[in-house]
Amino acid sequence: MKTPSDKRPIGIFDSGVGGLTVLKEVIKKLPSENIIYLGDTARVPYGARSPEIIMKYSLECAQFLLSRGIKLLVVACNTSSSISLPGLAQDLPVPVVGVVEPGARAAVAKSRSKKIAVIGTETTIKSGSYKRAIKAIDYSIDVMGLACPLFVPLVEEGWIRGNIVSLTAQKYLSPLKKFGADVLILGCTHYPIIKRVIREVAETNLIDSAAETAKEVKCILEESKVLRLDNSKPEREFFVTDSPKKFIQIGEMFLGQKISNISGINVGDLK
Ligand code: DGL
Repeated sequence: MKTPSDKRPIGIFDSGVGGLTVLKEVIKKLPSENIIYLGDTARVPYGARSPEIIMKYSLECAQFLLSRGIKLLVVACNTSSSISLPGLAQDLPVPVVGVVEPGARAAVAKSRSKKIAVIGTETTIKSGSYKRAIKAIDYSIDVMGLACPLFVPLVEEGWIRGNIVSLTAQKYLSPLKKFGADVLILGCTHYPIIKRVIREVAETNLIDSAAETAKEVKCILEESKVLRLDNSKPEREFFVTDSPKKFIQIGEMFLGQKISNISGINVGDLK
């Protein structure tokens, strides 16, 4: 019997604009899917907030997307994935994909020296989420976590190449050489945008959690036979909790294409 087409959208949320790096990869892998993206721009950044607050915000974002009939939820934010994924996966009625486990799996597969480094926000690194995910696959691997909080504002300012970002990367990444990592995980939505600079400074293999996550989303939809098998143009809808104009301005750089069909919503509407 022919598998029916499932036109329910994929839901993706992030603390703001950064998750568009994940959306971009999902679009590459699944160009026919309808997608709803929610950026919680009123409450960004999540990266230095407490686990309790991140859990609360993540649940609110997830519920908003669920109320719009999604078939799968992608938690694009590394900080949210680090803190809220087990809880969301347990409580929600749809499959939930975070960015940590796919990134960790790809890093383990790539590493020969069994030394992996991960960079992310303060909360992501403090949570130890990548370390746990890597150790669950291979306990003998050494993991070094480095918080790089200034990368997010630099990218949001559009300072993605040149001296300032390069010197910042040199400062943050200097412990890498001594540690001897042969793989570095980009454990934050914003870091793929400055991949070139990070690669030049780190001189090691990079794992982009966004691309790995998109592969996992495709696998789950295929296995569950809920792909949209329709050739008509898919719908892409964006919601932000503040400043749609600013989101479009920076977002188009992240996504590499035009953003339309965007609505501003009140944070209060997420509850
Ligand atoms: N989206 C966040 C992450 O991937 C970075 C921005 C923020 O701190 O909210 O961790």
